[in-house]
Amino acid sequence: MNNNKISLTGIKPTGIPHIGNYFGAIKPALELVNDYNPFYFIADYHALNIIKNKQDMKKLCYNLAATWLACGLDPEKVVFYKQSMVPETFELEVILSAFTPKGLMNRAHAYKAKVDSNKNSGKDPDDGVNIGLFTYPVLMAADILLFDTDLVPVGKDQVQHIEMATDIAQSINYNYQKDLFKIPKPLIQKETQLVIGLDGRKMSKSYNNVIPLFLPENQLRKLIMRIVTNSQTVEEPKNPDESNIFSLYKLFATPEEIEDLKNQYLKGGMGWGYAKNILFEKINSHFKPMREKYNELISDKKYIDKILLEGSEKARYIASKKMRKLRRALGVTN
Ligand code: TRP
Repeated sequence: MNNNKISLTGIKPTGIPHIGNYFGAIKPALELVNDYNPFYFIADYHALNIIKNKQDMKKLCYNLAATWLACGLDPEKVVFYKQSMVPETFELEVILSAFTPKGLMNRAHAYKAKVDSNKNSGKDPDDGVNIGLFTYPVLMAADILLFDTDLVPVGKDQVQHIEMATDIAQSINYNYQKDLFKIPKPLIQKETQLVIGLDGRKMSKSYNNVIPLFLPENQLRKLIMRIVTNSQTVEEPKNPDESNIFSLYKLFATPEEIEDLKNQYLKGGMGWGYAKNILFEKINSHFKPMREKYNELISDKKYIDKILLEGSEKARYIASKKMRKLRRALGVTN
């Protein structure tokens, strides 16, 4: 049953979608589709802070759109759009900026991390920092507040951004003594869904340890064989809880299958090659139908264009009503 509440999330087209994105963002967002009015989008103007080559930008946007669709996003049920195609977002960003203390932005994790790393390496604190990075949370607040979002499914690293959106919304509501914006809530991924990469750290493009979603079979196999293990011999009993292979397996297997592999670890007599093979088979069969869909979609860019255009028009219809109301509330129009 639909509770008429809005769920909204965006993904930046900055790299090849991987299984961390799938379990961390795509799958949980799609699970909300029947209970919420979902708005899911491609955050291309957020990506512009990183992707500054025209061909790369185009390709990454198509890849991400095809990924969402291949993973099961139904454009009849989801308002699926591209951020840049809803320009009301950027007008709202200007309004929000007027109510955003600079000090709030100074505290944003991504910006602070960059400044700290500059300082540590003896560089100017602002080296490589553009205003787009600095105001990233304001743009994200605009994405969220534009649609009166109730719930934002995101990873833990994004919670601060949602708190900032809340701060900004509250100060505007307070200033005009009116509930102009709904206060959003994050829906945070459970720890169990933390996806470990090839090297045992969190799966992330910046660690170069990702398993892309739709690799051809032979390349997927090669990558799985690269998962880091310890140097225990085949005979030795192994600890499943310290194994990157096991931790990935748990994302895909049934409770019985998990129990079964766990026993093989504990018993000894199982080599890492065997465990990797089992994992490969699981991942491969899980993504095979989606991979086929993805390959079909990615060779039909016109279809993707059409879906995004329709979604963006739906989003704009709602966004433009919101903006008319806001402009009146601010006194910039009658
Ligand atoms: N900042 C998010 C990320 O890096 C992407 C994003 C942009 C987003 N706008 C959003 C997520 C609005 C949720 C809601 O993952």
